[in-house]
Amino acid sequence: MTEVVAEKEINSVSAAEFFQQDAEFQELMLNLINIHVVSELYGADCFERSILRAPTPEMKQRMARTVMEEYGHHLRFRKLMEELGLDWQEYARKKGHLTTFDTPIDNWADQVVFMALVDRAAAHQFRHFTRSPYEPFRRAAQETLKEEYGHVGFGMDGVKELLATEEGRAQVEAAVRKWVPVGMQSFGGDKSKRNDLYRRWGIKQDTNENMRAAYYEQIRGFITQDWGIDLPQDFREIYAPDGSDQERAY
Ligand SMILES: [Fe+2]
Ligand SMILES: [Fe+2]
Repeated sequence: MTEVVAEKEINSVSAAEFFQQDAEFQELMLNLINIHVVSELYGADCFERSILRAPTPEMKQRMARTVMEEYGHHLRFRKLMEELGLDWQEYARKKGHLTTFDTPIDNWADQVVFMALVDRAAAHQFRHFTRSPYEPFRRAAQETLKEEYGHVGFGMDGVKELLATEEGRAQVEAAVRKWVPVGMQSFGGDKSKRNDLYRRWGIKQDTNENMRAAYYEQIRGFITQDWGIDLPQDFREIYAPDGSDQERAY
């Protein structure tokens, strides 16, 4: 694989300077912003149903706060479009939500495992975005990342509670089998042309395959050791990476 290490890195681009940038850079940034405008809203709608699924008032309150923050993510990225004088709805029509949300969240175990694993995968993406050259996007990513860490922590707490009973443990195990491949898939194709471009412009700092491997190593660690659920050492036994770019992925 050829190394394309931010050869065109731009230090910091403001909103006022955005349209003076290379067309390729503009397109990549707008693609990423649009992904979040669409998917944060869709995801918030999916999460909303989990408020009443939460087992206790405390958990309901935390779930409600999470939903509020997810709508906030939509609004935050939408503002980046509006700041550039662009019609977010027109962009939103061009692209569906991330494939992450194609798999339905069916119960409370699904919801907490989703946050522990899939929100975590999103956080891995955002860690890159906080170093990207477009300043408004970088700032939005920093604010969002902080909240995503909160969702991951909430998911971990929710899982811990479920693991205390036999029934809960079985539900967590089923949810792990369901969401690990979704988390893995969210990193995009291994031979992604888009990732090459993201790296070329300093928007991401690593390949999809490296990011996926690092993610799997991290989640496999706590799933096997702390949750007591087996996962193969080689993720290819449970997930086969798709080579090409997918339309509704990073
Ligand atoms: Fe979010
Ligand atoms: Fe989240």
